[in-house]
Amino acid sequence: MNAHSKEAIREAVTKHYGTFARKQLEAGGVEGAAEGGAEGGVEGAAESAAGKAGKAAACCGPDTDAATGTQVHQAEAACCGPDTGAATGTQVHQAEAACCGPDTGAATGTQVHQAEAACCGPDTDAATAQAWADRLYDDKDLGDIDGAIADLTLGCGNPIAIAELNPGETVLDLGSGAGLDCFLASRQVGAGGKVIGVDMTDSMLELAARNLEKVGARNVEFRRGYLEDLPVASDAVDVIISNCVINLSFDKGAVLSETFRVLRPGGRVRVSDIVWLREPTAGEQSDLASWAGCVAGALTVADFTNKLEEAGFTGIEITPATPENPQGFSSASISARKPW
Ligand SMILES: C[S@@+](CC[C@H](N)C(=O)[O-])C[C@H]1O[C@@H](n2cnc3c(N)ncnc32)[C@H](O)[C@@H]1O
Repeated sequence: MNAHSKEAIREAVTKHYGTFARKQLEAGGVEGAAEGGAEGGVEGAAESAAGKAGKAAACCGPDTDAATGTQVHQAEAACCGPDTGAATGTQVHQAEAACCGPDTGAATGTQVHQAEAACCGPDTDAATAQAWADRLYDDKDLGDIDGAIADLTLGCGNPIAIAELNPGETVLDLGSGAGLDCFLASRQVGAGGKVIGVDMTDSMLELAARNLEKVGARNVEFRRGYLEDLPVASDAVDVIISNCVINLSFDKGAVLSETFRVLRPGGRVRVSDIVWLREPTAGEQSDLASWAGCVAGALTVADFTNKLEEAGFTGIEITPATPENPQGFSSASISARKPW
């Protein structure tokens, strides 16, 4: 049971990622047009993607203006953990390190900062952002991808590493953000394959379009839409990937049933996401900033498994990266298959 309405969750998430994307667009010299209220999402179709501009809201790393000292630390803590109220010294560092980074045991100095940049967004320090991309993706995965694009990852894992993509396959990325995983997938499926990225946040789609132009991949297409009602035909996709997004949905059952619908029989799910390793408390679940930061809305491993089963999937495997994380949540690799 969600503590917040569908509208409140969607607004918090859209504002959060819209802010991040707009700051990147502005930093890249893209002129923002007038903002028509909150980030419009799909229903804001009248607002062209190119016409979106800033709304402020932080959390997972977008606070580039506040990129100093305590302010950054608060943003980081809000991002990666429920402990936003404990935004001081060691406590914050524990929350940050616990976040989505695999190295919770190495919570000191530079290493902590790498973990902080983790979760759902890098801070403005380019070196830190790069460090996070480098931690999620090895050089082989990234290849010659533009480092500035890799730095825009807001993921918590590397779905490409587990996707086992083949030339000619059709891939759908749920919540494609700035597009990194789509671009990496596009190389593996080749000219005969296709990659579709779906995202609900207009300025994120604009950022992805800018990156697509830079990358020049002809087999990648970004679509505006919701995970709960995918703008994709039934039985059309070989592989679903996603990186730190399903936890953000107010209705995971709908997301997984849509995922099942669009996959062809025999198709597979290869997702990175946050999972709770224990039952979260009511307080942990009701923190909207933490929801937008990829923690509060996460499912437990058992709930995720049940929902995948209810949607019809088989061969379900959920493997947390840090199963002993004292914060009680972890990034995880999630695999499943739609039966033939
Ligand atoms: C944490 S970011 C991850 C982006 C990307 N997967 C990555 O690894 O960098 C979450 C993204 O999912 C999108 N998103 C969140 N909930 C969504 C939903 N219900 N439907 C469509 N997009 C959603 C957000 O707009 C944002 O771009």
